[in-house]
Amino acid sequence: MIVVVFIVIFALEKTFQQNLFIVMYEKIQETASWLKAKMVTHPTTAIILGTGLGRLAEEIQVEQAIDYKDIPNFPVSTVEGHSGKFIFGKLGGVDIIAMKGRFHYYEGYSMKEVTFPVRVLYELGIKTLFVSNAAGGMNPGFKIGDLMVITDHINFFPEHPLRGKNYPTGPRFPDMHETYDPSLIKLAGQIAREKKIRLQYGVYVGVQGPTFETPAEYRMYRTLGGDTVGMSTVPEVIVAHHCGIRTFGISVVTDLGGFDNPVEVSHEEVQEAADKAQPIMTEIMREMIVRSEKLEHSKNERYNTDHPTEEWKSQS
Ligand code: HPA
Repeated sequence: MIVVVFIVIFALEKTFQQNLFIVMYEKIQETASWLKAKMVTHPTTAIILGTGLGRLAEEIQVEQAIDYKDIPNFPVSTVEGHSGKFIFGKLGGVDIIAMKGRFHYYEGYSMKEVTFPVRVLYELGIKTLFVSNAAGGMNPGFKIGDLMVITDHINFFPEHPLRGKNYPTGPRFPDMHETYDPSLIKLAGQIAREKKIRLQYGVYVGVQGPTFETPAEYRMYRTLGGDTVGMSTVPEVIVAHHCGIRTFGISVVTDLGGFDNPVEVSHEEVQEAADKAQPIMTEIMREMIVRSEKLEHSKNERYNTDHPTEEWKSQS
């Protein structure tokens, strides 16, 4: 009898999970179709305007701006300093989609919600994604205000964005070498040399927050190979990579931790340090967007497959 009850519970749970995925997939399609009907351009580049990119947003020649709250199925941003808008426009002559405001796991969203916009971007035809974030610096060579090109990440989020039924945009077990596109990283180096901007390179550790790290945690993440630590980016980048979207990310180092003299950190100080770094961040990102259009797309594109089919929906 007990065995039968367990089997029934297991079957119900499986059906529930499956339905959840189908619902989520249908929501992605619905949102993408809604946006497509409004789009007058067909950008292949998108940017998630994280901390430090407000000024870049001002440079966009806006063609259309749609509040997240008006987009069907879109989560609504709640955190201070992150208003929510989907912007269609031109930056340096390039058609782009800019997301002003992102969804953080610490706000209470599930990973499926955090990464929902990236899945929508994929459906809209995005091939290259730029992201920025504010982060704590753990590498003793870093200073507040430095920009760090993310060369790799360590995922410390407690939930994985690809957990559950696999979306057919990529394989069940995706390779994670070169998650941050090497040709874009190289391009950033060239731009920085030309413009005499000091760039750091390193590994971003993604954590759930909302607490900043204790000194012991900063030291641990440093020991494990991290150079910066922050509360975003990793989920979006994982999903983008799974969709075959090439990605490029920069951290603004807004505070330092893990050294001999730990200092307190607050959200306001993080914002202030990020604001100061805006001119160089804007310079790099604008040039990256303009020049990346001309770069060959990387081998990741092989992951771009046909969109889900009825057959996929019914697979277990
Ligand atoms: N830790 C985590 N997230 C952050 C930090 C930090 O030190 N600084 C800015 N975002």
